[in-house]
Amino acid sequence: MDPVSGEINPQQIAVLGLGYVGCVTAACLAHVGHRVVGVDRDQFKVDTVRAGRAPFFEPGLEELVQEGVAAGRLTASVSLRDALADADVALICVGTPSEKNGNLGLDQLRRVSQEIAESLPGRNKPLVVAVRSTVYPGTCEDVVLPEMGGSPLVSVVSNPEFLREGAAVRDFMEPSLLVVGGALPAAVRQVAAIYSSLPVEPSIVALRTAEMIKYACNAFHAVKISFANEIGALAGELGIDGAEVMDTLCRDHALNISRAYLKPGFAFGGSCLPKDLRALVYRASRLDLKLPLLESVLPSNHAQLDRAIALALDLPSERIGVFGLAFKENTDDLRESPVVLLLETLIGKGRKVRVHDPHIQLGEIYGSNQRYIMNAIPHIGNLLDGQLDAMLEWADHVLVAQKPSPEIQARLEASGKPLIDLVGALRPRSAPAPIPA
Ligand SMILES: NC(=O)c1ccc[n+]([C@@H]2O[C@H](COP(=O)([O-])OP(=O)(O)OC[C@H]3O[C@@H](n4cnc5c(N)ncnc54)[C@H](O)[C@@H]3O)[C@@H](O)[C@H]2O)c1
Repeated sequence: MDPVSGEINPQQIAVLGLGYVGCVTAACLAHVGHRVVGVDRDQFKVDTVRAGRAPFFEPGLEELVQEGVAAGRLTASVSLRDALADADVALICVGTPSEKNGNLGLDQLRRVSQEIAESLPGRNKPLVVAVRSTVYPGTCEDVVLPEMGGSPLVSVVSNPEFLREGAAVRDFMEPSLLVVGGALPAAVRQVAAIYSSLPVEPSIVALRTAEMIKYACNAFHAVKISFANEIGALAGELGIDGAEVMDTLCRDHALNISRAYLKPGFAFGGSCLPKDLRALVYRASRLDLKLPLLESVLPSNHAQLDRAIALALDLPSERIGVFGLAFKENTDDLRESPVVLLLETLIGKGRKVRVHDPHIQLGEIYGSNQRYIMNAIPHIGNLLDGQLDAMLEWADHVLVAQKPSPEIQARLEASGKPLIDLVGALRPRSAPAPIPA
């Protein structure tokens, strides 16, 4: 968009595939001022769009198709070659259906990529190919790009679509997320510019990251739905209004509907989450109620611990320092700390281990925690190192199993020892966008 006039810089866009995604994309882009040719191998869809109608029902779509065709900004063709002739950008919107075994069907994507490649000889204008279809991470690089035969005119970008059928036009015009991924900044900028009049800040990421974000979003939505359904099912069996439970849960914007707990890291533990999940699942089983999602959470947590153990066992060193013993920072509660299980495996496999936790100093803890260390895990208590620097001096590698304070993080990094970040705490963080209430 021109920052002075507020107008978009119209681009010539070919939308490849006029299904739900392609047709909505084509009509909405024409509406915001681009010149768009929609391409489909289905003559009916092409004829319908040319006649100013929508090839399927989607609220608000027919009006936009009609408007775009009448204004001369939207047309349609069965010829991909013709559509690409003047195009600056080609948006791939073909289907990627499930195969019988669950694999993603890429036949349409391969075919359309080949057709783009076949149209390239004789071309002298650059073309940005943006994949809006949902594809496995790596598909742009492994499937689409090789088809382009190394043409210097073509760049490939991932620009996944997030619209929902039934609200597709509104979702397009008021996007909740705009993701553009690619290696070439100019191509990424060009695709982001297509949407510059829409009220959304583009998220610019790496190519594979963009492809993965689409899967993460859909998996998250599916998990949310199943979570609410399982809570509702259990609540119903217990004579409780599940909708009220979930409505109230959603009022918590600090821990529930928020960024909290949504970062890859270490397994969870502590005195509440494992115990309460076990109790919930047990209660449901007494009611003969299957809650596969909730039942899978503790096994999933174990799998995360197993991955950390495998990583630690793969280290080419015998002397492993571990930062953090409690299940999270700022507590001395050791109940069900996954670090204890990690340490027990490492010791069992003959590794030499020393542990430092700023809140667990043997001389200073007391009561149930002291008894727990003395009685339940005396073998772990013996590994405790009161001095961080002594542990760092001794270790060949350091597992960071708890989020360190900024001061401790600086000391960990200054030690020069290889740090294995199990909690995802040491990565530089990009500034997070605000979460609206
Ligand atoms: N439908 C949704 O709500 C939605 C939302 C977000 C993302 N997606 C993803 O977007 C992609 C498209 O989904 P859809 O629902 O629009 O699919 P669709 O099956 O409705 O449409 C695909 C269209 O592509 C056309 N096509 C296939 N190969 C072609 C070729 N070589 N040349 C020209 N046209 C060709 C088909 O004829 C068809 O009209 C999928 O990857 C899907 O997972 C869908």
